[in-house]
Order: sequence, then structure tokens, then C-alpha cells
Amino acid sequence: MTDRYVLFGNPVAHSLSPGVHAAFAAQTGQDLRYDRHWVPLGEFARAAAEFFAGGGRGGNVTVPFKEDAFRFAGRLSARARRAGAVNTLALESDGQVLGDNTDGIGLVRDLTANLGWVIAGRRVLVLGAGGAARGVLAPLLAEQPAQLLIANRTVDKAEHLAQEFADLGRVAAGGFADLAGVEPFDLVINATSASLVGALPPLPEGLLAAGANAYDMMYGAEPTLFLNWAQGQGAGALADGLGMLVEQAAEAFSIWRGVRPETRPVIAKVRRDLVAQSAQ
Ligand code: ATR
Repeated sequence: MTDRYVLFGNPVAHSLSPGVHAAFAAQTGQDLRYDRHWVPLGEFARAAAEFFAGGGRGGNVTVPFKEDAFRFAGRLSARARRAGAVNTLALESDGQVLGDNTDGIGLVRDLTANLGWVIAGRRVLVLGAGGAARGVLAPLLAEQPAQLLIANRTVDKAEHLAQEFADLGRVAAGGFADLAGVEPFDLVINATSASLVGALPPLPEGLLAAGANAYDMMYGAEPTLFLNWAQGQGAGALADGLGMLVEQAAEAFSIWRGVRPETRPVIAKVRRDLVAQSAQ
């Protein structure tokens, strides 16, 4: 029988994940389907319980349910516990549902394996201190940057995160105003949702070191506001979060199926789909 997987979210209509997993399944010869599953706000636990009771094998979880999924999972991976959020659920052989988080490893694989960017020994700036930032801090710190600074509009939230992850490396916190005059960064990662509302955090000139890399965890058919800003500041290389999307999916797929798909051709395909979708 064909195994069933879903993406739980609200909204989910424009998600590219079904296309990503269909491409992985075709590539690896796995018999599965992966559908969008729109869940009304406040009903995640009911929807997930129903899905698994009905024979579902696993799922991904997106906005705004990653914390609900964390509470729903009967068992948690160490990285999900660190992130405080779950983006992957997998039915295990004893009937328990494992909650895992593949976002951080997805980002780090995109940065290092796909883009060839170096994190070790570099000065890294993370913009934002919400769920997206929290989910990637541990894997970023595991790469041993020289320094990781979290800058956020609400300074308290950055400070709390820095304290929470201080055991994993050199991590500091501040507001955007504190960025003026600091030593420039080699890698700047935008983990804010500002571009969703057409905004950009107020960033000072001179934030980027010569040849610095800029990464936006958001993606779109067009370069994001943040990437346009970084280009204007002389960034050496730019990338949006499409590669991260595909890499976090590949990690989820290998948890579910025990086979690791090749991501490069899928990233290229999803990029084409995204451009085609936006032209419609
Ligand atoms: P996510 O799970 O996507 O991280 P979130 O938890 O709501 O979503 O966090 C959104 C992040 O984007 C936060 O860091 C938020 O800053 P605050 O903590 O001060 O709210 C940041 N953000 C959202 N809109 C922003 C804007 N217009 N300018 C700067 N930062 C913004």
C-alpha cells in the first residue's frame, strides 16, 4: 500500500514541499504520497492524532504549528528538544510518534555542502530571535564560528536565546542599533519574517566584511529585500532559503524512508517551479 505523508500548516496552499517529496520519491523509487494538510488554528493535536490513527506514516509541520507538534510528539530527538520545535513527525515501529527538527541541519547543509560557504572560524550574524532563528542556532554553533551574534528588534528575545545556547559556543546578543560600529561579519543570515511584510530590519552601513556571504531563510521567485540590501552593501555571495527548504525535506525523507535523496537536481527543479508559479 502507498504510504501517506502530509504537511500540516496554515496556510499550506502555496507550499513547495509536495513537489520536493514527489521528486525525492521518484528519484529513489519509494512508494509514497505527500499531500498538503490545512489545519484550522488551535486544532493541530486533533488533526495529527486523526492522521496517525488513520494509517498516516509521517509529516512535516510548518507555521504556526511547530510548537504544537513539539507537545504532540510522544518522543523527541535531541535536536528537536534543543530547538523547542518540531518540523518532522515520524511513526515508529512501536506506534510512538517521533518529533524531530531538520531545519537547522537543512540550513547548515545548504550553506556548507551546496554553497561551499565556511562557517568555522567566521563571524556570523543572525537577524531575528523567533522560531526560525531558534531552530538553527545549535547546528550553526556546532560548526564553530568565531562568534555568533543574534540581533533582534526586541532585544530581550535575543538575550534569552543567547543565554539558552551559550553552552554550545561563543554567542552574544543585541539590538539592531548595537550593530553600528561593530567588527564586520563574514556571514549574515536573515531569520526575521520582516520581508513577509515588505520590511527590512534597520541595518547600519559597514556590517559586511569584504566578500561576506548573505543568506535569507525566506525565498521567492525574486531576490528578497534583504538580499538586495546585501548586494548593495557589496556582499560576495547571496542565497535565499530554497536550498534550505529542500535540504530539510531531504533529512525528513531519510528519517522516514531510510534513503537519502540527491538534493541538487531537486533544488534546480523547485527553482523552476517557483518561477513558473509566480508567472501565473
Ligand atoms: P519565525 O518563526 O518565522 O521566526 P516569529 O517567531 O514570529 O516567526 O519571529 C519573527 C522574527 O522576525 C522575530 O525576530 C521578529 O522580531 P521581534 O522578536 O522583535 O518581533 C522579526 N521581525 C518581524 N517583523 C520584523 C520587522 N518588520 N523588522 C524587524 N524584525 C522583524
